[in-house]
Amino acid sequence: MSGKSKTNCIGILTSGGDCPGLNAAIRAIAKAAINEYGMKVIGIQDGFRGLVENRVISLDNNNISGILTRGGTFLGTSRDKPHKMMVGGKIMDMTGAAVENLKKHQIDCLVCLGGGGTQKNAMRLMKEGVKVLTLPKTIDNDIVETDVSFGFDTAMGIAGEAIDRLHTTATSHHRVIVCEIMGHGTGWLTLGSGIAGGADVILIPEIGYDIQIVSDFLLERRKSGKRFSIIALAEGAKTHEEMEKLTRDAEKASREAKKDNKDKKEAKEGKDKKDKKDKKDKKDKKEKTPSGDVFFDETRENMPVVVKKIDSELVAYHAVQEPVASRVARQIQEYTGVEARVTSLGHVQRGGIPSVSDRLLCSLLGAKAAELLADGIYNVMVAYRSGNCEPVAIEKVAGFRKTVDIDHPWIKAARLVGTCFGDKN
Ligand code: F6P
Repeated sequence: MSGKSKTNCIGILTSGGDCPGLNAAIRAIAKAAINEYGMKVIGIQDGFRGLVENRVISLDNNNISGILTRGGTFLGTSRDKPHKMMVGGKIMDMTGAAVENLKKHQIDCLVCLGGGGTQKNAMRLMKEGVKVLTLPKTIDNDIVETDVSFGFDTAMGIAGEAIDRLHTTATSHHRVIVCEIMGHGTGWLTLGSGIAGGADVILIPEIGYDIQIVSDFLLERRKSGKRFSIIALAEGAKTHEEMEKLTRDAEKASREAKKDNKDKKEAKEGKDKKDKKDKKDKKDKKEKTPSGDVFFDETRENMPVVVKKIDSELVAYHAVQEPVASRVARQIQEYTGVEARVTSLGHVQRGGIPSVSDRLLCSLLGAKAAELLADGIYNVMVAYRSGNCEPVAIEKVAGFRKTVDIDHPWIKAARLVGTCFGDKN
């Protein structure tokens, strides 16, 4: 055991969507913290919900042993946020309970393993005076300030292997296969696995696609004698028009927010004026609700919703249920006449054992986390940069998202080998 640690007790939780490597990271932090620095380590179950509900277990050399290669998280996880938690059917701010429970267990620092949402939750607690330290976890690879997040390599490998397997069946049947890949709002997973798997078309959220361009590309391939095609499609991919609409809507929302601020100021000058505005808003809303149009629901991550008038009185809102891959496959069949099939990889990408590369990354990040904690360094995320693990201030990470730059070397390389991105480039 090395010299005295500045941290006596830590709590570890895993939050957000699970991924391979979480157990490897817990193991590395706990082993180093307990055996090298003599810290007490408490495992918090099911993410921030377990913290609020005070569900904890003591971690020791027995229960952190044998978990390096195990997928998922043995602590359990949830997508709950302390400041907006569903309790007894109501959304409540449970930050106070979270802070209290940390105090109860004399936890000096809360170690949070998670993606973008977790980084934000950790920062919120930090602002309440809790000392935190985070690790970058997500198959989406969208965390800023780190070269890579753990879970990404494994998921990319699974998606890459799926694309390999789809090749043989697509070839046999002379089909187009659309393979839907996770990644939330970013295209890292689809791009990486698509390039490595040799997908002919890669559609990602960062590049709006045109189905006509994709279809023409597929027909060209057929003409040249290639009788099958694989499309790697990110779950968040959007058409060029959808992207333009999102930009327009965002601009409109920001204009309206500005206008709203101005109106609020003016409202102070007289209630009558405000009443008049309310009436106008109501009228505008009614007039702006066309029948059968597609809108994007900001409260549900811009999920498309169809607004449809079903009689003169009633307006029905339908979430568009057709998954993006089905839509793309259907349109390709319509445009090209070529038989198309869909494979949606879904949570398969998050399951199973972590890759060797992820296990290595988790071990490096976890060990570094323990070292930083022993040195009394808090309120940082342990990032992986150019082969080193380094602390980065949480404020630089929380609330930001790493998207694929359209000039990224991966995109450039893919274009050079003839991959179609569905754009005019
Ligand atoms: O963030 C990881 C991720 O797997 C995304 O790629 C995906 O959009 C989302 O989580 C799925 O979430 P859930 O498991 O809650 O359905």
